[in-house]
Amino acid sequence: MYSHLQERYSTRPPVNVGTLARMRAEGEKIACLTAYDASFAALIDEAGVDVVLVGDSLGMVIQGHGTTVPVTLDDVIYHCKAVSRGLYRPFLMADMPFMTYASREQALDNAVRLMQEGGAKMVKLEGGAGQVEIVEFLSGHDIPVCAHLGLKPQSVHKVGGFRVQGRDEAAAQQMIRDAKALESAGADIVLLECIPASLGKHLTEELQVPVIGIGAGPDTNGQILVLYDVLDITVGRKPRFSRNFVPGTNSPLEAIKAYVEAVKTRAYPAAEHCF
Ligand code: KIV
Repeated sequence: MYSHLQERYSTRPPVNVGTLARMRAEGEKIACLTAYDASFAALIDEAGVDVVLVGDSLGMVIQGHGTTVPVTLDDVIYHCKAVSRGLYRPFLMADMPFMTYASREQALDNAVRLMQEGGAKMVKLEGGAGQVEIVEFLSGHDIPVCAHLGLKPQSVHKVGGFRVQGRDEAAAQQMIRDAKALESAGADIVLLECIPASLGKHLTEELQVPVIGIGAGPDTNGQILVLYDVLDITVGRKPRFSRNFVPGTNSPLEAIKAYVEAVKTRAYPAAEHCF
């Protein structure tokens, strides 16, 4: 049964949660990137990226907002549909926007829409101790979940800016407790944004699930960047952890391949990209 599909999948099988767990176990770095449309998704697939995120960063790089807060679920679904049409191998993850997972039922309804309408295979939510119950509920309904810790851009107005998180001992210990609780609740992946490299290393060692970093140092199991930073088309100030991969390449495809290569060989992130 389904032998034609098995044959098609055997040469370049699509990435799934099992693939990511195996990559962590074998020490192969996981290369992740954001995407917002089908054309870039196809290039990203060809370049060998393992995980693609339709991030609510689309609010900033596509829609021109100053934060991710105005992004709606329909916005993410629209971009997710386009991206999923361009992908074959990479694992597709979609962000749950601001206030779309404030209760268990709301989170489940919205995660189902991201998967059924958008084509996402995993949902990502920004979480701490307050989201443990939500993650448990989604996971209990077999929804794959990525828990985003550290700098949580949806909380920018509460925190008072885009700042490195977990610098002091109390905050670091709280993050470690939160990450473990989210993993126990069923999170399949943890994503760490903008934290000291030493904390990124510690959390990666403490957790069993794959840990993806963005500004979290070189020791996480994988790295993720915003596509527009990799291609140097982000307007305004660039975050310290980002890197422009265009120099020395002749096309967007080559620049994305250079990013994948740098992640896989551990050339990125270097000391200047870390906190
Ligand atoms: O929205 C996004 O693109 C993200 C990444 C920065 C991890 O959450």
